[in-house]
Amino acid sequence: MNFTGIVIGLATFLIIGCFHPIVIKAEYHFSKRCWWFFLIAGIAFAALSLVVGNVIGSTVAGVLAFSCFWSILELFEQENRVKKGWFPKKGQEKYDFDEIVPRRGTNSYKWDSAANADIIPLWVADMDFRTAPAVTEALKKRVEHGIFGYTRVPDEYYDAVIEWFSRRHGLHIRKEWIIYTSGVVPAVSAVIKALTVPGDKVLIQTPVYNCFFSSIRNNGCGTVASPLRRTGNTFEIDFDDFEAKAADPDVKVFLLCSPHNPVGRVWTRDELVKMGEICIRNGVTVISDEIHCELVYPGHKHVPFASISSEFAARSVTCVSPSKAFNIAGLQIADIVAADPEIREKIDKAININEVCDVNPFGVIATVAAYGKGEPWLEQLLDYIRGNYDFMVRFCAEKLPEFPIAELQGTYLAWMDCSVLGEKSEIMEEELMKNAGIWLNAGTMYGAEGEGWLRWNLACPRARLEEALDRFLSFARGRLSGTR
Ligand SMILES: Cc1ncc(COP(=O)(O)O)c(C=O)c1O
Repeated sequence: MNFTGIVIGLATFLIIGCFHPIVIKAEYHFSKRCWWFFLIAGIAFAALSLVVGNVIGSTVAGVLAFSCFWSILELFEQENRVKKGWFPKKGQEKYDFDEIVPRRGTNSYKWDSAANADIIPLWVADMDFRTAPAVTEALKKRVEHGIFGYTRVPDEYYDAVIEWFSRRHGLHIRKEWIIYTSGVVPAVSAVIKALTVPGDKVLIQTPVYNCFFSSIRNNGCGTVASPLRRTGNTFEIDFDDFEAKAADPDVKVFLLCSPHNPVGRVWTRDELVKMGEICIRNGVTVISDEIHCELVYPGHKHVPFASISSEFAARSVTCVSPSKAFNIAGLQIADIVAADPEIREKIDKAININEVCDVNPFGVIATVAAYGKGEPWLEQLLDYIRGNYDFMVRFCAEKLPEFPIAELQGTYLAWMDCSVLGEKSEIMEEELMKNAGIWLNAGTMYGAEGEGWLRWNLACPRARLEEALDRFLSFARGRLSGTR
């Protein structure tokens, strides 16, 4: 046994230990399993060197083994911090969603439409966070080029969309199924045009995203509503009603909102299967607006309608965009995914008739960057928004128990029952803006079933949400005690 080797080895361990911040930098490049392998190899080599009396060999191997051991400890420690929510995961930067980024004076529809600069706008569905840094970087590079002529959509774009939906959502799209356009509303409108003739009817589940009503109306169609049924603090489909409405021979299309704006539901596979089977039985084609599909919280899973079966894919058209999740709605880009070639041909025609077949260079670049490099940012965004919702629920449970909030399974839009105030939603919206300095959306924007409800946009720094809730609290308390 060579004791000199052990002593030198130990001394070196201590020296390296003092410099461990340098050593652990390397850990970012290896997984824990890798470090375990190095550790065992190092110990084995050190032991072997000791047995044969090789001082230098045992020292070098011992040092390596020790630094590996240290790295493993660090990884354990960091995983623990990640679990407790203190620290970002390895390889992820910490994105600061608490940062207040001023938006007034940027031609923001949400911020610059308010009459009064003190109003906190929690209405339009965009976010008060900067987009993923990867998106900004890619856009900066494109801006620096300085020429912004007509743009073509490269293969890289299709690859990014196909890869993202396959990996994240299990939806396997072929390149020829994708038709790009300038937004999900233009997409929905063109698909309605493609699948109906004026006088046909479109089935919707109310309350629902307000532009559904205008897109249907603008195509000369009528609306048939199958209202969602409130059950506890969530909403369900009344399948008997849905089936009866789908059976109307004039109903040619069902416009599904999945996840659902504004009630926050993420439809389960069973619900989607049931809706799909009813539609197929009645010859109704499904347009599935899945713009909110990235914004889904733990315990729920977004199931793309078209991923359920090849028949569902053939009898449906899906509309998607990175715009909600990556906060790039102003860049105006979206995709229509249609597996059926006949349907696709009709959509192509409608897109051309509506003149929405061109996109801008920034939308293309941003989509590629968001789907390709934006996922770690998105994961932290989801944690943050979920934290905002939990904060709001706790706040209301404690201070505003008369105002139940629907369970938020998806989207960043909270749906609050304000019927206790006994006031029309539109009046509440107006009074909240005038007297409390917060701008929320009246529930009736989403159909008559939204009467008595308000929609809150939770995609803002928590301090701003807290301030808005405080303002709402004093407004509501005043109203409930009859002093306002
Ligand atoms: C369900 C739904 N579809 C579409 C949109 C808007 O899509 P775009 O801005 O791409 O037209 C929204 C915006 O809130 C939405 O909630």
